[in-house]
Amino acid sequence: MVDTAHRNTDGTGVADGVGVTALLVAAARALESHRSDSLARDVYAEHFVRAAEASADWPVHPSQVPDGDANPLWGRFARYFGLRTRVLDDFLLRSVRVGGARQVVLVGAGLDARAFRLDWPPGCVVFEIDRKEVLAFKHRVLGGLSATPRAARVPVPMDLRADWVDALPRVGFDPAAPSVWLVEGLLFYLPPAAETYLIDTVERLSAGGSALAFEVKLEKDLLEYRDSPLYTATREQIGIDLLDLFDLAPRPDSAGRLTDRGWSTSVHTPFDFTRLHGRGPLPEPNDALAGNRWVFAEKPHTAGGARGA
Ligand SMILES: C[S@@+](CC[C@H](N)C(=O)[O-])C[C@H]1O[C@@H](n2cnc3c(N)ncnc32)[C@H](O)[C@@H]1O
Repeated sequence: MVDTAHRNTDGTGVADGVGVTALLVAAARALESHRSDSLARDVYAEHFVRAAEASADWPVHPSQVPDGDANPLWGRFARYFGLRTRVLDDFLLRSVRVGGARQVVLVGAGLDARAFRLDWPPGCVVFEIDRKEVLAFKHRVLGGLSATPRAARVPVPMDLRADWVDALPRVGFDPAAPSVWLVEGLLFYLPPAAETYLIDTVERLSAGGSALAFEVKLEKDLLEYRDSPLYTATREQIGIDLLDLFDLAPRPDSAGRLTDRGWSTSVHTPFDFTRLHGRGPLPEPNDALAGNRWVFAEKPHTAGGARGA
């Protein structure tokens, strides 16, 4: 049963500005969860969608999408988010189980419920950074469900456009121990200087053996696919103009910046993973997804440095 007791109606909540995009991804994860060929399951996602006024009537089950997979928003775009969720779930679990990190930082966490739904090894701490309105909404909804995290969880409310290098150490993050960072669906909303600051901060707070995954959009995507069916359907069906929310200034080369600092990086298209999993979006003409890249980066262990516990 879906909890509707936590709708925000005061105009300062999750759906204001860029926060509404967290609801969009939650709706996509709800849809993915109910597919028979689902790549990721998130039982919390539909509760977030139903609890916010802005999204209360969005579909959370494929049977509620009349044209099903043919719908550019709730079909192909939602499948994209489902694939992204699975790939980044796998990345995080690999980083803690094989890489040995015990500190997980979700930057622009939105309504990501990984702290609650993934099987974390003992001793993991999940830090969740987002705007305070988004984290407050998340707290209310999860509290209403009596959800229990499967790792220690530390919400860190803040605006990533401000100086935040001290925020994590202040709440118990240890820069001397390996960490794994996830920046999923965030960077294209930030001004380029905030993206560069974010990458430099991750670099500064990461011990050797740390890992980072992030998503970028190539500049040509932001500028060239304005009338892509994905953007048009999102605007027409739920009133979200993604291009209006994106920061359209020229993007920095964040993968190159990390490589210059000695990190090893690999850059993939989402379609690489569609082929790997046999499910998900494939390229099509005038495609808003064509410029999306998923970057995976690792900071080498320094000579003589300890491997993660
Ligand atoms: C598309 S959502 C992605 C959320 C989550 N990573 C996921 O994939 O489900 C983007 C998130 O970035 C957050 N965000 C955007 N700009 C931000 C800023 N300046 N400071 C903090 N959070 C921000 C939004 O509040 C939103 O939750």
